[in-house]
Amino acid sequence: MLFKTPTEKSLELIVTPDHATAGTAAAEIVAALIARASTRPVTIAYATGSSPRPIYAELRRRHEAGALSFKNTRAFLLDEYVGLAPDHPNAFAHFMEDNLFRFVDLPAARRHMPDGLAEPDAACAAYENEIHGAGGIDLMILGIGGNGHIAFNEPGAPKTSRTRRVTLAEETRRANRRFFEKDEDVPTHAITIGIANILEARAALLIANGASKAGAVAQALAGPVTADVPASFLQEFEGELSVVIDDAAAASLKI
Ligand code: GLP
Repeated sequence: MLFKTPTEKSLELIVTPDHATAGTAAAEIVAALIARASTRPVTIAYATGSSPRPIYAELRRRHEAGALSFKNTRAFLLDEYVGLAPDHPNAFAHFMEDNLFRFVDLPAARRHMPDGLAEPDAACAAYENEIHGAGGIDLMILGIGGNGHIAFNEPGAPKTSRTRRVTLAEETRRANRRFFEKDEDVPTHAITIGIANILEARAALLIANGASKAGAVAQALAGPVTADVPASFLQEFEGELSVVIDDAAAASLKI
């Protein structure tokens, strides 16, 4: 259905009975973009986290069935923890390899990720250059944090922000604690693309599931546009915006 935000932005809203169905619907949007004829590789920025996993499972399934190729695509990661090597089990680089990249025909030279071990200012500048060199991002695949963060743009992130080193919110560290052995193992910082990078993309796809995301989803799509809820900046997205959520995540949205 078409959903209008308070800013009069029309977006495609798909509400599904469960998370798995949301993944399939979202994968269809990704596959349709890849299928569009393009003279340069289609550039996709990938989110990590539990929300997009069913998308990646469905994309893998389509690839294995011979129905989808990533040969003419280029991949960027939204963010990465500072201090983790790409092969660390909790590194986002590792997550993407493990959930999608190693199963598909995406050329290794077209897998871009912020370097969590490099000097952050240099790593951020290099990443901005890579995005620019690729001609920008065609599709942003986004999850949303319970506090309204997108990528690792925590509350307070300005609309003009670009790739930078950020301090993770305590709430975010708590949410990601389950993946680490000890409290002190959870990274305190990350490198993330900024809100401006997200708004510059040609299309964006937000996926969310579960009751714990209902408040953030409603604030993002139906509340005021504010840095307190970074995902609310999507109301100012100029390209094609699709939101795929399950019933539980849609519970606080008036539709
Ligand atoms: C993370 C990521 C975000 C993600 C969010 C929600 O740590 N940096 O890109 O959208 O938190 O994660 P999940 O989908 O596991 O709830």
